[in-house]
Amino acid sequence: MGSPRIHPDTIDDVRQRADIVDIVSEQVVLKKQGKDFVGLCPFHDDKSPSFSVSPAKQFYYCFSCGAGGNAFKFLMELNQRSFADVVLDLARRYQVPVKTTEPEQQQALQRKLTLREQLYEIVAVAAKFYQHALYQPDGAQALTYLLDQRQLTRDTIEHFMLGYAPEGWQTLYGYLVEQKHYPVKLVEQAGLIVPRKEGTGYYDRFRDRLMVPIYDAQNRLIGFGGRGLAADAKPKYLNSPETELFDKGKTLYGLDKAKAAIAKADRAIVVEGYFDVIALHAAGITNAVASLGTALNAGQVKQLLRYTDSKQIIFNFDADAAGIQAAERGIGEVADMAYRGDVQLRILNMPDGKDPDDYLRLHTAEEYIALADSAPLWLDWQISKLVCDRDLKQADQFQQASQFVVDLLSDIANADTRTHYIRHCAEIFSQGDGRIVPLLAENLLAQVRRKRRTPGDKSHQTKSNEVQILNRSFLEEAEAALLRIYIHSPEHRETIITGLETRDLGFSFSHHRAVWRMVTELTQADRPDAVASADAQGPSLLETLRNFAAESTGPLSLVHHLLYLEEKTRLDVLRAPLVIRAAIACLEKNMCEKRYRLLLNLWSDSDFDASPEKHSQYQKQIMAEKTRIAQLEKERSIDFADLASIPWVQP
Ligand code: UTP
Ligand code: MN
Repeated sequence: MGSPRIHPDTIDDVRQRADIVDIVSEQVVLKKQGKDFVGLCPFHDDKSPSFSVSPAKQFYYCFSCGAGGNAFKFLMELNQRSFADVVLDLARRYQVPVKTTEPEQQQALQRKLTLREQLYEIVAVAAKFYQHALYQPDGAQALTYLLDQRQLTRDTIEHFMLGYAPEGWQTLYGYLVEQKHYPVKLVEQAGLIVPRKEGTGYYDRFRDRLMVPIYDAQNRLIGFGGRGLAADAKPKYLNSPETELFDKGKTLYGLDKAKAAIAKADRAIVVEGYFDVIALHAAGITNAVASLGTALNAGQVKQLLRYTDSKQIIFNFDADAAGIQAAERGIGEVADMAYRGDVQLRILNMPDGKDPDDYLRLHTAEEYIALADSAPLWLDWQISKLVCDRDLKQADQFQQASQFVVDLLSDIANADTRTHYIRHCAEIFSQGDGRIVPLLAENLLAQVRRKRRTPGDKSHQTKSNEVQILNRSFLEEAEAALLRIYIHSPEHRETIITGLETRDLGFSFSHHRAVWRMVTELTQADRPDAVASADAQGPSLLETLRNFAAESTGPLSLVHHLLYLEEKTRLDVLRAPLVIRAAIACLEKNMCEKRYRLLLNLWSDSDFDASPEKHSQYQKQIMAEKTRIAQLEKERSIDFADLASIPWVQP
């Protein structure tokens, strides 16, 4: 009598989920060293760190005592536990449902195991057959196709074990069943032959097709993709059916050959087609894999993430409608992870709607990599797609776009990232009118917050952080606007100086302070009057600064945007009086807020009984600051005559 045993599927699932770095670092202090981690070996009295853990290989090894193995072995050895105990513990921890098997089932499983082994063998023998056929007279056309049309080298053809399934209905059947005596049922289960609908007998599934063998991550052959050679072949690609070995949803084409390169490049490229992978690898870009004609799922992405520490994945799907849809479905699958920052997802679309294979026939690997390096993050990609698809001048489309953005941004877990994107979208929505950006951003922020507010939400802290970050970037913008006007528009310099001095305001950002010091020193001699005429005498302030900036590595090198105007900032200069007023209000508001916080602290620290007067004095001051802040808030954002013309910003 045996006792129930853990089902092999459960063991597989646990193995997939358990990460060796997580597990070891609970017991050992690990330090990152290149792609691996090192620490003191827990299995012997280690003086210097000789214990190394490889996330890519999911393996540990001690260079000093020779202990080594996977996550299971680590826990077994360290805690002196049985394999089953370790698996059960980990299953609990990673919430993997545990299936067990009864003794009778065990026998069935044993049979299944040997079945799998037999299937592996049959598929491998078939691959050899196809490969051989490629170099026979019958395969000449296929070989020519690979060499000429696909421009593959013989090495690449060999490396990917490409082959040819001959014409004829029973070529492979004849070889495997009649010649090699493999049981016909097994050959059928391997997905290679199909029973005839009428009568008896079988025919070959793949006929007159180019054969692309598919391996699993452990480098075992599990199935095939077969590309029709005739231009009108239907379907273009015929793949192995799902078999005991071949699970499309769990397989990534090329992963066996890409694993090491993904770890090395620290990012994975996901493409759509077999030949995209082959072309990329042939060009030396070996960190590429393909999904198998199905949408990429979260499990496949997790599989990839094991090999990249910084969790970088690039989707490089075709830029046609189907490819964009595939990208969007893929994004949908990993959105949860992406919002949490568990994957850094970028979307790469080749120019002119090409696929990577087409692209590499006309361009170099370096050019491809340069494109990959500059591929937008998935949120940016989605936002720019949104803008391309809509005319923001139409109120209904504007409304739609803003709803889309609110939905998109509400789920971003990190407050800084969320604020960054809110501001970015506000800029897009402003359609070049910089003055309304703050208002649009606040509006978006309010909607995003409303959407995020769910029962039991405890994110008050984050919310006020968001507001602070947003305010900070308004402040930076306001300061930049003042400096810009000061530099470009001599007739407004006096207004700015007076505005700042009467309210006793200064610049908060150090690079702005440095620029301010410089420009006031340069124009000092001109004050208090004849500011404009000074420019007529020598080189203008602007020219002097541009000359400085061209040579310096100091603060001026950081503020080119102050010295050279673009469309948006030119508008600010043209509307100087309005912008100065709003910007100075923004600076003052910032100062009032600082004072307000300070007073609040003083007030709560002060002892009412000891000095009731002081206490109520603080209270009065706090109220005064609050009123002033509200006033400034109005001054710095509204008062623009054409505000009502912006859809959904109804006053
Ligand atoms: P594509 O048609 O984009 O492939 O399909 P491709 O690689 O660009 O084709 P060619 O050979 O260069 O013309 C992308 C992937 O979708 C799956 C295959 O996995 C293919 O590589 N597919 C496509 C199928 O499974 N069946 C099909 O009929 C077509
Ligand atoms: Mn192609």
